[in-house]
Order: sequence, then structure tokens, then C-alpha cells
Amino acid sequence: MQAKNVLIIGQGAREHALAQALAESRWVREIWAAPGNPGLAELARLSPVTTVDGWVDLAERVGGLTVVGPEAPLAAGLADRLRARGLPVVGPGAEAARLESSKIYAKRVMQEMHISTARSVAVDGLDTLALQVRRQWRLPVVIKEDGLAQGKGVTIVRSEADWDAFLGQQTARQSPARWIVEEYLDGREVSIEVLTNGRDYVWLPVAVDHKRLTADVGSPNTGGMGAYSPVPWLTEADRRRIDAEVLGPLMTYLQEHRIDYRGILYVGCMMTEDGPYVLEFNVRLGDPEASVVLPLINDDIYPWLAELTEGRLLATSLPVSTQAAVAVVVASQGYPAASLVGRAIRIGRHVARARVLHAGTQLVDGKLVSRGGRVLTVVGLGPELAAARTTAYAGVDQISLEGAVVRRDIGAEFDSVG
Ligand code: AMP
Ligand code: GLY
Repeated sequence: MQAKNVLIIGQGAREHALAQALAESRWVREIWAAPGNPGLAELARLSPVTTVDGWVDLAERVGGLTVVGPEAPLAAGLADRLRARGLPVVGPGAEAARLESSKIYAKRVMQEMHISTARSVAVDGLDTLALQVRRQWRLPVVIKEDGLAQGKGVTIVRSEADWDAFLGQQTARQSPARWIVEEYLDGREVSIEVLTNGRDYVWLPVAVDHKRLTADVGSPNTGGMGAYSPVPWLTEADRRRIDAEVLGPLMTYLQEHRIDYRGILYVGCMMTEDGPYVLEFNVRLGDPEASVVLPLINDDIYPWLAELTEGRLLATSLPVSTQAAVAVVVASQGYPAASLVGRAIRIGRHVARARVLHAGTQLVDGKLVSRGGRVLTVVGLGPELAAARTTAYAGVDQISLEGAVVRRDIGAEFDSVG
């Protein structure tokens, strides 16, 4: 194999983590990122392109492997366009991307394959929601916007007051007119990610995300405020059930429907008393999951990705490190509702075994300032989760960003475990 160029599509911490993993590869010559961010600029050549047409042209020029980080370009058919030109790409086409972009489609797939998921209905119009659903469904219920919402279009309604508040907000917004209402599932949530060719798959390290803004269960959903990996509480038996009851049937679905899937598949699983229930499928690496998952892969990831673009898996399992990783997101003041931009960011002393990944950062007049949303992700590595957590927070403490929103409890449950 000859050294090749790689183009990374996206501009978040996930893409920065991908660039770090690829920068360690002996097969990677030059890394490009579009549009990228100031952290990625240290590892990659950046192009400001943000359209499908622009990415296709850029991929031709870069002349190597393209890895698509976020879901939106996949849903818009970027992978199809690249494949049509014979360019190798990691990421499924638009048809398969509906597993993420349309919750209604995902539910239909699960129903057809008997994959456990929360009971749900699609609801059109606010009146139906207010008059029928509210009367008929027992609390708590979960209400989701159909379409891509980056984990932010989900509301858990626990009380009549929550119903009033939710309906009030929707009336004010007058959109969207379509929701999925589903039963609330009780359990522990885990992010399962696999590399797959649509027939076979290998597990990536398993991670746990922290979706809420604070440790309070009533706090708003975000894109993810932190993550850890591995997940000691997920047993071998749990994994076997996820294989048998979720991943296996999903592969059968892809095969039976002749859906070409070459990329990463993410299953958001609620581990309930009755086993794994699927909350969502994503057609890409999770963010912040990628920041803890990628550093724990004990192999050069380039050959895995290159093989995948040809529809092959390099081996039957992926070598995983025995180390642990904890990621803590540093978000802008006001996140997730409305985040402040343009605040100065100072990254202090380097902490051994910590990495600072950029997301919502930008350079203005040569100075690093916030661009909103999740600004940085600090990853700590260590021999076990408690040590990784200490390192991650030592890294966070080196960052100054006025008004920063940071959860202090990522991986806290492992502190007392000796
Ligand atoms: P989703 O975008 O559908 O994955 O939802 C975002 C987050 O909301 C999930 O990661 C869960 O934390 C929570 N959530 C979604 N659906 C449910 C459900 N049926 N029961 C409990 N929590 C849920
Ligand atoms: N961390 C959840 C996601 O990437 O969708």
C-alpha cells in the first residue's frame, strides 16, 4: 500500500479526533479538512468549502480517501456523489443515512426487524398533540422533532406543567408540524459504534455520552457534554444481546433491501430491565464519543477505513486498548439555547496525557475566540477511568473561556471504585 491523502469533512471535535488518529498512521501522507477549525489546522490543510459540490471538487483534487464526519453531508448524498466518481469514501449514501435523518424511517426498520424500541406514534399538527396525545399517553412521554436535530430536538415531558410549557413553545414557534411521541424508557444509555460494510461489522470501543446540560435529569438535551470509554458496566451478555437483537437484524435489513452501507453505524441503546432498546441510529461517529473511542483503538485506522471503502473489513475484530479515556466538553455561555460567540479562549499549560480538541473555535485577527456551541473537548487518557477523568479535568482547568459551561461529573461514578 502506498501513502495516501485523506480528506476529512467537518469542523468539530470528532473531526479533530479523526485527524489525530489519521496523523498517527504510517499510510497517511497529507490530511485535508473542510471546513476544519483552528485545531485541525495544526494537522491538516484546510479548505473553507461547505457545500456538497465544493466537497466533491475538493475530494477530486486531494485525490485520496474521504471521511465524512457529520450526518448532514451524508443525508445530502455526498457519499453517493463521491462513489459515482469512483472516489473512496467512508460514510453511507443518502438512502441509508435516513436511518438517522428520518426517525420515522428508523422506527419502520426496527418494527420490520423486530428490534426493540420505544413504542411511538408520528403526530402531525399541534392540535393532535395537544388534544389527543396529551390525553391518551401516560407520563412521562418523550417528544422528538422529525428530522436532523443533533440530539437537541428531544423533550421529555414529565408533568402536566411540562406539557403546558412544551405546547406553549411550539405555538410560539409554529414549527415543525411533525413529531414522534414515544414512551419513556428507563435504563442506562450506551453508544455502540461499529465499522460496517452492511453485512459484517466490528465493534469500536463502547462509550457513554452525557447528553444533558447538567447532571439534573430535567435539564435540556445537548449534542453531548462529555463521554467515557470503556464502559465497565456493560457486560459480555449485554454485548451478545446487542449483537443478536440489534446489529444482526439491522445487517439483515441492509442486505435484504440491498442498501450499500460502508461506514460507521452508531446505535444509541438504552439498556433496560428487558435488554437493549434502540433510541436512535446515527450513520457516523458520535461526538463527543469519537474523542474517547478513537484514541482507544490499538491499531492504525487508515487500513481499516481504506478497506471499508471497498466493502471489506480488515479483520474480524478491532484491537482495542486496555486504557481508558474521558472527554469533557467546554461549551459557550448560553449553550444549547443560544450561545455567545467571540469570547477569548486561552489554553494554558499542556497536561501530560490530555488532548485539547477544537470544535466551536475560530481565529479572529490571529486570536483564538469562540464560535459558539461546544467550543473545545478535553480528553484525558489513563490506565483506568478514574485516572483518565483526573487528567481530563486537569486539562479543563488549564482553559479559560468566560462563562464556559462544563459538566463536572463526567465519569464521576468511577472515582470511588478503587
Ligand atoms: P435521540 O435524539 O432520539 O437519541 O434522543 C436524544 C436523547 O434523549 C437520548 O440520547 C436519550 O438520552 C433521550 N431519550 C430519547 N428517547 C428516549 C426515550 N424513549 N426514553 C428515555 N430517554 C430518551
Ligand atoms: N453524542 C451523540 C451524537 O453524536 O449523536
